[in-house]
Amino acid sequence: MRGDEAYRAGAGASRLVVGNHPLYERAEAALKQWKKAEAALIFNSGYTANIGVLTALIGRDDLVFSDEWNHASLIDGIRLSKAACFRYRHNDIDQLESLLKQSPPATPSGRRPSLRERRAFAFPSPPR
Ligand SMILES: Cc1ncc(COP(=O)(O)O)c(C=O)c1O
Repeated sequence: MRGDEAYRAGAGASRLVVGNHPLYERAEAALKQWKKAEAALIFNSGYTANIGVLTALIGRDDLVFSDEWNHASLIDGIRLSKAACFRYRHNDIDQLESLLKQSPPATPSGRRPSLRERRAFAFPSPPR
């Protein structure tokens, strides 16, 4: 049997639209084993990976410190997460440190978590 008959390859749509397929799971299992990771998940682009991962990890009670040069996918992922985002000048560690030292602002949900329970994420941008 030909591959396209066995797997019904052809014009279709993404996993998001047409659903899961055992081949995705086989590929993810192989990746997981290769990278010796707990799990693997394939996204169809870096953009969708950043959107998916950031919205899963970060929520409205979180604070994010983001380099102003960060990729659009990080900026959009942070926006969709509804976390409070503080931008600092590219690679300006002094400005980042000063933002981190300021008294903790309220998160978008209005909650003021204590410093101990606060989750903060910093996204530096790689040098260009
Ligand atoms: C940090 C970072 N995230 C995401 C992307 C987007 O990747 P893709 O073009 O696969 O959507 C890029 C592309 O250069 C990137 O540099």
